[in-house]
Amino acid sequence: MSKRIPIVVANWKLNGGIDLLCASVAAFIGKHFSTKIAICPPYIYMRDMLNFLQHSEIIVGSQNVSKFGSGAYTGETSAQMLKDVGAGLCLIGHSERRQMFNENDGSCQIKVNQALASDLMPVLCIGENAQQREAGITNDVLFRQMHDALADTDITNKEICIAYEPVWAIGTGQAASPEDAQAVHGFIRQELCVIYGVERAEKIHILYGGSVNKSNARELMNQEDIDGLLVGGASLDPNHFIEICKQAE
Ligand code: G3P
Repeated sequence: MSKRIPIVVANWKLNGGIDLLCASVAAFIGKHFSTKIAICPPYIYMRDMLNFLQHSEIIVGSQNVSKFGSGAYTGETSAQMLKDVGAGLCLIGHSERRQMFNENDGSCQIKVNQALASDLMPVLCIGENAQQREAGITNDVLFRQMHDALADTDITNKEICIAYEPVWAIGTGQAASPEDAQAVHGFIRQELCVIYGVERAEKIHILYGGSVNKSNARELMNQEDIDGLLVGGASLDPNHFIEICKQAE
């Protein structure tokens, strides 16, 4: 069991609408959890969600952030803008963004620094695909993703979080086993120690994501270096997501 206060994050991706927003707010308002909980809806719903949940403990986060601070970058949203409206965290380098929107370790590094500069907690997503796993190079892939994206990041007095999302487990119903996930999280912690030193690395949350549901959440959370969960599909049902949050307590 992790010694860090668990964080459970919902990533709605390009799903949901006003109905899900209202149902989620209704489901969470007035409830207390001993875990930290964050919801990342599409950008367009963040402001409403922040307003509705302003008296709750729920953190609202974004699924992405611009690598630019301001200027002629049509369609972008900066870290400072997200901070201004009250966002608490932003996902960076989700595998869907790496696969479909050409994100890479270099752009992730810029985005991590943008988020840190605006006191927005970056949640850096890393993970190997099926071929890389079969080739036995999972740790090499994660090593590169972490060391490249976290190079030159100063996290003094800042929060940062890593999300391990094996690509083969995302949306497939095939979650990593708790033991396999723990082995990878242990490796990630080891590399965080190299990058930031042991004392700081021990405080960093490492989340697991990939086919998390109410049946596997508790066992995953029982692992020493699994400090939280990043939930996609199952977060689109507010009651299911609440059940996962309870399993993570
Ligand atoms: O960011 C969450 C994610 O990619 C996992 O999605 O649907 O497998 O829980 P899902």
